[in-house]
Amino acid sequence: MSSSSLPGEHPLDEYEFTFESYLEDLGRIEADDINSSPQAGIYNTQSLSESIANYREEFGRTYHAYNAGSYHFPNDNAENERANNQYEILKLVMDDRLHLCPFLPDASTVSPKILDIATGTGLWAIEMGDEYPEAEVIGTDLSPIQPSFVPPNVRFFVEDSTEPWLYPPPKAQFDLIHTRITISCWSDMKTQIIQSAFDHLKPGGYLECHEIPGMPYCDDGTMPPDYGWLRWAQELYHTSALANRQSDIGPDLKRWMEEVGFVDVKEVIYKIPFNGWPKDTKLKSVGMMWQRNLLDGVSGFTLSLFSKFLDKTVEEIEVSLVDVRKSLLDKKVHAYHKLYVVYGRKPGDGEMDGVGAVNGGMVMGPPSPPASFGRPASKGGE
Ligand SMILES: C[S@@+](CC[C@H](N)C(=O)[O-])C[C@H]1O[C@@H](n2cnc3c(N)ncnc32)[C@H](O)[C@@H]1O
Repeated sequence: MSSSSLPGEHPLDEYEFTFESYLEDLGRIEADDINSSPQAGIYNTQSLSESIANYREEFGRTYHAYNAGSYHFPNDNAENERANNQYEILKLVMDDRLHLCPFLPDASTVSPKILDIATGTGLWAIEMGDEYPEAEVIGTDLSPIQPSFVPPNVRFFVEDSTEPWLYPPPKAQFDLIHTRITISCWSDMKTQIIQSAFDHLKPGGYLECHEIPGMPYCDDGTMPPDYGWLRWAQELYHTSALANRQSDIGPDLKRWMEEVGFVDVKEVIYKIPFNGWPKDTKLKSVGMMWQRNLLDGVSGFTLSLFSKFLDKTVEEIEVSLVDVRKSLLDKKVHAYHKLYVVYGRKPGDGEMDGVGAVNGGMVMGPPSPPASFGRPASKGGE
């Protein structure tokens, strides 16, 4: 319709109203070309075999069935509810931002592809699907614990991400790959996940990791050496090493990404207090929620690992957790966790030309992205 109409002419005269056509029950609904719809392409839907949902039961909890025994935290309702609460807390911490990297698909990017590794209950993938309706979002996990009522552009698949990623070609097809809270999932995140992500990203695509190492931090000397959560975290690190799983995921992410070949790698660190000890009202409320979350989760984080690798009975473990839980209630100790948000860009085609060893860190990159790129600049950091 033209923006101006002559006097006497109704501005809607030029419209042809056709809304009855798609309601006409004798007509056929025209099928979209499956090759052009955003849901097409990456996967054909595969049905879940019964065995994948046939969870192992131990210690009164359930654990994943696919490649059983690889991951030691539970996948039952209690843990999934805790993970969903954790998601909401992290959203608050990150001021409602789902990512910090300058992933801004424009009109020229047809159906950008987003992959969430170890998606868990899938909330990040679902919200990304809502935020980027033109994108195709895939979440993968060992456990099929994601809801089935999700945006039409979001799909979930059972996959062990330490195995080769079997997406139909082309290999480098994703625009953004994400991980969040994958403590104790991998034996070597750099080679198993960061390298695979590099290989599967399009040139110019981003990897962004949101990770929280288990260790508590304290800036003012109020955390004693025998602080319950500190001793627990030390034991967790020791036990995870026995299980060949990394628990200190965060501090090395930036270096790992750079060594694999990512450029413009940025690290933002947020502090998450253990309880309501901070004066600041937002941090106090985040701390109170985090305390509840750790109290809810600690038994699940401990039972399988400590019983299998330290030969402890369930009773011994539960008794040892009394002091750990007590430590979380102690407001005199100003402990906090660190949330590492680290992202890097796979160099563009031109940048990779002539660089035989991208992994050798010899890539000449363009200038860093601007400090703000459509989303508010981070307020995190130490
Ligand atoms: C702590 S949860 C985090 C889930 C989700 N990213 C979030 O932020 O809520 C870790 C997830 O990693 C998954 N996981 C562990 N090992 C995995 C593997 N080898 N491949 C794929 N997923 C894995 C677990 O099943 C679990 O859902």
